[in-house]
Amino acid sequence: MTYARILGTGGFLPRRVVTNAELARTVDTSDEWIVSRTGIRERRIVASDETSCDLAERAARQALEAAGCLAADIDLVIVATTTPDRVFPSTACLLQDRLGIHGPAAFDVQAVCTGFIYAISIAEKFIKTGSAKRALVVGTETMSRLVNWQDRSTCVLFGDGAGAVILGASAEPGILSAHLHADGAYKDLLTVTEDGADGTDRVLAAASGHIAMRGNEVFRVAVTTLDALVGETLAANGLNQSDIRWLVPHQANIRIISATAKRLGMSMEQVIVTVDRHGNTSGASIPLALDVAVRDGRIQRGDVVLMEGFGGGFTWGSVLFTY
Ligand code: ACO
Repeated sequence: MTYARILGTGGFLPRRVVTNAELARTVDTSDEWIVSRTGIRERRIVASDETSCDLAERAARQALEAAGCLAADIDLVIVATTTPDRVFPSTACLLQDRLGIHGPAAFDVQAVCTGFIYAISIAEKFIKTGSAKRALVVGTETMSRLVNWQDRSTCVLFGDGAGAVILGASAEPGILSAHLHADGAYKDLLTVTEDGADGTDRVLAAASGHIAMRGNEVFRVAVTTLDALVGETLAANGLNQSDIRWLVPHQANIRIISATAKRLGMSMEQVIVTVDRHGNTSGASIPLALDVAVRDGRIQRGDVVLMEGFGGGFTWGSVLFTY
């Protein structure tokens, strides 16, 4: 049996740190409010000339090095992003060119905060069916470009960054299962609108609007949906909660993360948390958190790891794997 196995990980954060105290100088908020409601203390923000592809390239090069791969070994490039450099070509094509990969399939996936989960499960299917041997899968975001910096209810939440993995065909496990879902009925609870418009059913150019969110409702649906998703993932694999060594959740809010950990009967020591330093980097948050925990030695070969995400759409999904 062929599995898709994570061969190496990489991550990259822009240099500029924006603390809660700095935000409190421009909008009516406080470090205390932000930390108690979200767990976020600081986030990274790109320079004015830095793009999602710039971040992706740095994360991808690090992942290639960690996997001991050359760019020439890659036969599939998938980039999860909500904030592409251009409407087209895709950020995956731009990244492919930067890395000197010419010929193999390259495309973007847009599932907002669940984008990386979608991307890695698509790559897994290419590998399992023999259509690819080595895939580069990246989550990269410049969410700061979609944020209305005058809106205190959203501007405190988001950050920029990129994470990457190299997925390779292997006889050893490997990704054990992937579970993807979406329900567009929730399209208006978390969306990007033109300023001043209700935003619904309008065609927008990429990055021309700002994030609008009904935070309370998003929070409630996220917690119940992730609860069911974790149950679905365990049942599909015939596993108990105690079989999971690490949880690598989407980093939106520490309260959502804690609720999922509780559902799994996990202590917070088994949960990879970066939301305090990264904020919500949307499709980049899961691969960034994974890279942090692989590099600091917490996640070891043979560990069973659950990644899960929830985001605009709504979209949600999980990937269970043996590292
Ligand atoms: N600083 C101070 N006060 C604020 C701020 C702020 N940054 N933002 C909102 N407030 C105020 C509100 O105006 C409101 O004031 P009012 O009572 O006078 O009207 C009060 O705080 C409470 O606002 P709520 O929205 O009810 O606050 P809540 O406890 O729900 O926390 C939050 C808001 C953090 C957004 C929460 O709803 C949440 O985490 N939701 C999940 C959404 C999320 O994480 N989205 C990220 C993208 S989706 C994803 O990745 C899953």
